[in-house]
Amino acid sequence: MNTPESDVMKVELHPISEEEDLGFFACMTIDRPDKLNALNADVMASLKAVCAWMEASDEVRVLVVTGAQPNQPPEGKRAKPHAFVAGADITEFAGAGSEVIRKRFTNNAVEALWNLNKPTIAMVDGFALGGGCEVACSCDIRIASDRSTFGTPEINLGLIPGYGATQRLERLVGYGKAHEMIMTGDMVPAEEARRIGLVNHVVAPEDLQETVFAMAKRIGSKSSHALRVGKETVRAALDEGLTDGVEIEAIAFAGLFDSEDKEIGVQAFMNRETPVWKHR
Ligand code: COA
Repeated sequence: MNTPESDVMKVELHPISEEEDLGFFACMTIDRPDKLNALNADVMASLKAVCAWMEASDEVRVLVVTGAQPNQPPEGKRAKPHAFVAGADITEFAGAGSEVIRKRFTNNAVEALWNLNKPTIAMVDGFALGGGCEVACSCDIRIASDRSTFGTPEINLGLIPGYGATQRLERLVGYGKAHEMIMTGDMVPAEEARRIGLVNHVVAPEDLQETVFAMAKRIGSKSSHALRVGKETVRAALDEGLTDGVEIEAIAFAGLFDSEDKEIGVQAFMNRETPVWKHR
């Protein structure tokens, strides 16, 4: 299968199961390690292309998003730090006015990632700052190494976050903590990020990939139809009030009772079998 790779984006496919044909999960690596994987125009275009490719594929069921590991430094030079993504590429901000930025940020790739109708997991090893924190917040689940750091330092550039942190970070960590992060620009270490709800799990760097890939496989083995309905329904909590959200859930939940996968899952449970989903 062709993957939408570019100079700044690697995409690897991994089977969901070694035993059965359950399709794949994709691991997408933002690949600018010398610039701490900062989001320049090329990265954003590539991220959009990956999201469109994911939407169109029946075979690829889960997306893992990560940043490239540092390159070996030239002799005598210090190694660059580990980074998921250290933010939007600040060099592209120099001299830019509101018209340019409005155009660049409207319907941007982080929104495409957020709107992807398949499960997404951010695999964070190192700095997740500014746009990097926002890419992570646009994924459904975040798993980080214990050497990772999160933050929204835009205030130090005389800015505020522009890829959705004022909304999505706030939903994860709450009003007070989001304000603190956005107003101070202070960095939040991984363990604190876990404590405040920004990160689901924190593991040692050497265990990160195995932990994330195991979760991608676990999620990828479920009914894709039920996963999609579940994601849409949890999203309703963000867009609607609680009462409307519960009503949306009731409709989605009842709707799944007409799906083949519900009957397959229930019968498999009763027969003590592993379900073989119609919607893999
Ligand atoms: N945009 C463009 N380039 C960036 C970048 C960004 N957001 N973040 C890091 N880089 C580049 C640096 O300019 C440097 O490039 P160079 O080696 O060609 O000079 C390289 O990545 C390594 O970064 P450096 O600053 O030397 O690493 P460090 O270990 O001293 O510091 C950080 C690491 C993350 C603290 C620091 O890079 C930083 O503060 N980055 C900006 C974070 C930010 O404000 N993000 C929000 C942007 S809206």
